[in-house]
Amino acid sequence: MQNHRWLRTPDGTPRRISYGADYNPDQWPREVWDEDVRLMKQAGVDVVSVAIFSWAKLQPAEGQWDFAWLDEVIDLLHANGIGVDLATATASPPPWLTTLHPEVLPETADGQIVWPGGRQHWRPTSPVFRRHALALVEKLAERYGAHPGVVAWHVNNELGCHNAYDYSDDAARAFRVWLEARYGGIEGLNHAWGTAFWSQRYGSFDEIQPPRRSYAFPNPTQQLDFARFSSDALKDHLIAEREILNRLTPDIPVTTNFMIMGETRHGDYADWAHEVDFVSNDHYVTEGRDELAFSAALTSGVAGHRPWFLMEHSTSAVNWQPINRPKHGNELVRDSLTHVAHGADAVCYFQWRQSAAGAEKYHSSMVPHGGEDTRVYREVVRLGGILQDLQPVAGSDREPSQVAILFDWDSWWGSELDSHPTDRLRYRREAVEWWTALMNAGIRADVVPADADLSGYRLVIAPVLYAVSEERRARLEAYVHGGGSLVATYFSGIVNADDRVWLGGYPGALAELLGIRVEEFRPLWDDETIGLSIGARGRLWSEPVDVVADDVEVLARYTESELDGGAAVTWRRAGDGAAGYVSTSLGVDGLAALLPLLLERAGVASELPEPLRGTVELAVRRAGDSRVRFLINRTDDEVRLDGIEGEYLVGDAVLAPRGVAVVR
Ligand code: GAL
Repeated sequence: MQNHRWLRTPDGTPRRISYGADYNPDQWPREVWDEDVRLMKQAGVDVVSVAIFSWAKLQPAEGQWDFAWLDEVIDLLHANGIGVDLATATASPPPWLTTLHPEVLPETADGQIVWPGGRQHWRPTSPVFRRHALALVEKLAERYGAHPGVVAWHVNNELGCHNAYDYSDDAARAFRVWLEARYGGIEGLNHAWGTAFWSQRYGSFDEIQPPRRSYAFPNPTQQLDFARFSSDALKDHLIAEREILNRLTPDIPVTTNFMIMGETRHGDYADWAHEVDFVSNDHYVTEGRDELAFSAALTSGVAGHRPWFLMEHSTSAVNWQPINRPKHGNELVRDSLTHVAHGADAVCYFQWRQSAAGAEKYHSSMVPHGGEDTRVYREVVRLGGILQDLQPVAGSDREPSQVAILFDWDSWWGSELDSHPTDRLRYRREAVEWWTALMNAGIRADVVPADADLSGYRLVIAPVLYAVSEERRARLEAYVHGGGSLVATYFSGIVNADDRVWLGGYPGALAELLGIRVEEFRPLWDDETIGLSIGARGRLWSEPVDVVADDVEVLARYTESELDGGAAVTWRRAGDGAAGYVSTSLGVDGLAALLPLLLERAGVASELPEPLRGTVELAVRRAGDSRVRFLINRTDDEVRLDGIEGEYLVGDAVLAPRGVAVVR
């Protein structure tokens, strides 16, 4: 991140972990607002995001504006010590706009129009939408820039949540401009896209379309570039709004809420992070606890380990999964504190008061339909108290670990393209499995963008680092030669930045460093696994690995099939460091067998006493001279924290089921 700026507060206000929610007072009669403020103060809420979906109310028709209600809301909150993260309100265009200008509506790859009725139905590249959105931003900045209650700007909302991929003519035009900037001339594009194949050679940029629905497999580099372009188009929108805000209100920091969670993949957030004053993230539990912690660690990674803002998560059930179960027991508190453990300095929910109508009325909130006399609200108040106790942590960075897992949007997008050796590969799942296996071994890890500075790490895991440019190859080699240990998995180093294969044998760009050579991939059938000499079983993928350098140590061999006796996992000292290779997908259980071998060679040991390894997740923040350890119970049983000395800011030496202790 370029420069880190946190919420604006009057000079001398002590920094704290902020607490709050999306607040939608425009859904409620005026008298409810006073009740809201009373309950917010009772719960310790000090920041709310306002007006995210209020465009139609703020601008009821072209040229008409209504700010009176928002003036009153902001004054009321400010008078009660609650800061406003003010949205630019551009997330969802009002009906009058899409009626006057249907040309802002996105189109699918099939050429279908996406109609209003839901939300976010706008083309990221529409000049008409942009003009109207920026006019609104300008009005808001002029009106509220001097209001002391506004502590940050919230650009749009979850950019690209629904509208990331638009195939309209506006998108086509912008895509051509983007491609011309990337490749300079059309021959550069023809080479990168491999258009000698299937008679795809282009004579000029005017002939290029987005990857609209076609027969067979659309050109893979065209698909990859369209993913990159679509991320950039959303980023451009962010920048356009931010420029206005920076010009008119230079002392108010600007953020937008990222979606680092699960399979949500449209934004290259390592790249977007450079455009905000502080990183914000929304996270909803979809694949369980370890994915939550992994996402929080990745958010910290894109934030350069500076504090970040948890803009949305849920107090309990959501409404958009097939079956929506409430959280129970300590889960509300534990999920929030897991984010804090990984660097969140604000804990906010969607939303403050549960809606009585509309598409999200069954989504949980801080004040449920049942009102203040409810389990959820009591937990909300309890968490507010805990966050007060965590005051000493506020403003502190997350302490880097000895181990990093690399995360790379290009490799994610590229490795899961169609027409590949298997369509079963899931990039993020492989990364999360390494994360879980490390946690099971009692090792805390970072998750960092693939091009981050790796020099502080003893061990770097590169799960499916599919795309390796010449430059990235050089940096990874320098890391190893400088003393680091790099472990790459199957389907790494395969292509360059244009999705063109590195020739000479796999794993392409990394083959020489690893001292191995693979001629053919051998993906496994759905019900097939393959045995390894360390007792683990591989799935999804296998490879006949030829060891070509004398100094390669084989850590595990295949024990079955035509690969029987062949190398499955290798390790090679190189320079002052080492480079290892794992040619199959081991899953969490298989990695448990392999990790001890890798950790020992890389010189990484657990920081936890033996009995706590695996049962407790550890994350550390560095507050001034002191280290603050977060110990999170991963189990449904009580855990005794024997051997964990220090001042307990939260909890005590007996960790409740799913409980959290914070020790300075
Ligand atoms: C987010 C969105 C919120 C709300 C929430 C529900 O995607 O930003 O407005 O819809 O999900 O989980």
